[in-house]
Amino acid sequence: MASKSFTLILLILTTFLMAQTQAQAPAPAPSGAVNLTAILEKGGQYTTLIKLLKDTQQLTQIESQLKSNSQGFTLFAPTDNAFQSLKPGALNDLSDDKKVKLILFHVTPKYYTISDLLTVSNPVRTQATEEEGTWGLNFTGQGGNQVNISTGVVQTQLNNALREKFPLAVYQVDKVLLPLELFGTTKTTHSSEAPSPKGSKSTPEIPSVGKAGGAPSPHGDKKDTNAANGRNVAFGLVVGLALICIEALH
Ligand SMILES: *[C@@H]1O[C@H](CO)[C@@H](O)[C@H](O)[C@H]1NC(C)=O
Ligand SMILES: *[C@@H]1O[C@H](CO)[C@@H](O)[C@H](O)[C@H]1NC(C)=O
Ligand SMILES: *[C@@H]1O[C@H](CO)[C@@H](O)[C@H](O)[C@H]1NC(C)=O
Repeated sequence: MASKSFTLILLILTTFLMAQTQAQAPAPAPSGAVNLTAILEKGGQYTTLIKLLKDTQQLTQIESQLKSNSQGFTLFAPTDNAFQSLKPGALNDLSDDKKVKLILFHVTPKYYTISDLLTVSNPVRTQATEEEGTWGLNFTGQGGNQVNISTGVVQTQLNNALREKFPLAVYQVDKVLLPLELFGTTKTTHSSEAPSPKGSKSTPEIPSVGKAGGAPSPHGDKKDTNAANGRNVAFGLVVGLALICIEALH
């Protein structure tokens, strides 16, 4: 009699535990990593931009930050023609630090669709923004779907969207977005500032792309905790049931 009851208890326990194990759903596969190089290569006219993104380490920064950043990013991608129509030397005269700033100026720490940009409040923060209101971009709507973008130095239109899907939007621009902070002065401030020693191989400090993105959302953890709570409750039920059965035997 007693052994029969124990067998019953074991059977119940085993059934519960097996149900538990099956209830633990497998972790969802990580959403496909965004390959920015592939997006730009497919566009076919962004070799200068790709090189700059690589030289300044921002390609890997953006790609890795995209995995954890909950706001996404928007990249304004100047074409090769846009770089070619800069004043000769405009790019090469920039120090490494300033090249990084120039690239960061083309990235916003937030994903914007075209219709977001039609109604966004100006100026929009970029990855280069330090103090509020600096290194910003202004957007103005042009009727239906046309967006103008202005830096205070250059104005151009957003053209083709190479990608418009969270977490990354990439829009073609036909001009390099020259920030007021680097190109605003009309008088050419030709290097009276200390030239950086060519020999020193110190890598420029590269601001983290994800800085403004905030902490990653805690949803994953919360879900785990809930699941764990569920397990505990179920386990408690099983133990309670077993205890009741044992009591009944006495
Ligand atoms: C991204 O795409 C480029 C070009 O298509 C390719 O060479 C590279 O291996 C890809 N990177 C990853 C991580 O898949
Ligand atoms: C951008 O827009 C803000 C707010 O309308 C304005 O104060 C600022 O002067 C504009 N900057 C440029 C460069 O157009
Ligand atoms: C928008 O940009 C285009 C070309 O860059 C320019 O011709 C037009 O005047 C701009 N419109 C406004 C409202 O700034």
